[in-house]
Amino acid sequence: MAQGRRNPEDLRIRFDFNYMMKPLAAKGFVPEQLRGERFAEAAETVAKGCPDMRWKQLPFVQDEVVARIEETAAEIREKFDTFVVLGIGGSALGPIAVQQALNHPHYNELSRERRGGPRLYVEDNIDPERMRALLDIIDPKTTMFNVISKSGGTSETMSQLLIVAKLLHDELGDDISGHLIATTDKEKGHLIKIARKENLRTFVVPDGVGGRFSELCPVGLLAAAVCGINIRELLAGAAYMDGLCAEKDLWKNPAYMYGALQVLAMENGMNITVMMPYADRLKYMSDWYAQLWAESLGKKFALDGSVVHAGQTPVKALGVTDQHSQVQLYTEGPFDKVITLLAVGKFACETPIPVLYEDVPDVSFLGGHTHAELITAERKATEYALYKSGHLCNTVTLPEINAFTVGELLCFFEIACAYAGALLGINTFDQPGVEEGKNATYALLGKKGYDEKRAELARMPEKDPAYVL
Ligand code: PA5
Repeated sequence: MAQGRRNPEDLRIRFDFNYMMKPLAAKGFVPEQLRGERFAEAAETVAKGCPDMRWKQLPFVQDEVVARIEETAAEIREKFDTFVVLGIGGSALGPIAVQQALNHPHYNELSRERRGGPRLYVEDNIDPERMRALLDIIDPKTTMFNVISKSGGTSETMSQLLIVAKLLHDELGDDISGHLIATTDKEKGHLIKIARKENLRTFVVPDGVGGRFSELCPVGLLAAAVCGINIRELLAGAAYMDGLCAEKDLWKNPAYMYGALQVLAMENGMNITVMMPYADRLKYMSDWYAQLWAESLGKKFALDGSVVHAGQTPVKALGVTDQHSQVQLYTEGPFDKVITLLAVGKFACETPIPVLYEDVPDVSFLGGHTHAELITAERKATEYALYKSGHLCNTVTLPEINAFTVGELLCFFEIACAYAGALLGINTFDQPGVEEGKNATYALLGKKGYDEKRAELARMPEKDPAYVL
């Protein structure tokens, strides 16, 4: 245990699924539905790490790489004003979610002194205006770029790399190795070839670690360490959660229970999973979860080759903001969704509400309370409203938000996803649907070797202009 860390039990994340179960939830489940052979079989599949779950080892096997990341991060913190991540999907969503969760909400606007390190930008799109805007506000001479691509060939990321490499060569001359770090597979893909050509520092995305399961490897750890986040605590939290989820009996395994309940929900027509954190700091956990759940479980084929069209559509919401946007639908709309509320036991500050305008009692009653009390009350009120309307909901509570609990949270949902995929009998860890789109892009842009795909695209039926108004 790191020096001075509190008892992990005090920092343990809790999964409350009361409002998924009868009799509290009228449309909920009974314990018998969560017992039986299929659950034992899925537990075996996960215990064996099938089809490939090497990402589960990340909290335990990275001593050397963590030391190297910390050393690199210390150098970057000292020398650079800006750190830019170039990546997309699993190579971006984790870094964004962790930065938002663990650093000041206006981190980039803080003074250099208060930040203690460079500003962070994660460029996860190729909107031309966004790239231009980034280049407008950075100075390449004081910027370190980290290009991240597991496959080393993703068009979006490679196009960004080309733009940045040209910029750096124009500004710095032949040697750009001091301003660009590559994070990629140790030998597969094109990024590693470019890294060798440019003599770049590289970090490896380990084998068996897919994009959406890669936050706890150099993909996410470098950016986090550069921004001053304690990555050892992140990993310790993940390791702790891994231990809590080691039981094969889902009644003793919170992540398994989460995954199993979502699968039961899917089988009962609830094909939407809403992730609603009641904390701005967890806002981008919903984006990260959305990718994890959608890309992992949205599959046409089961492992036995049968067509299943599995999956549950993730929806991102934010409490309390979306109480004024989506909760009307969640309480009175169709019974096609499960709502997960992310709760925080203790916020880092309270923000007292002053006692004022006592002659306007409908406003002044708020005085003397705090924003922490108000957001907690509103979360409980939403939970109550969902319960009363018979909609399924559950609550995942972080006692507080820190690197340890964020590590736990990431690990909790990753393991939950693995169990859900095992119950569905699919390959949770591939993404053939994403590959199809990537290949079509290559064909459209004339990449060598994609003639057949180009011909296939050319055979697509013409669109009917009558349907374009
Ligand atoms: O989860 C995944 O595997 C994908 O979302 C990838 O992360 C995404 O497509 C980017 O791929 P890469 O890191 O290979 O550039």
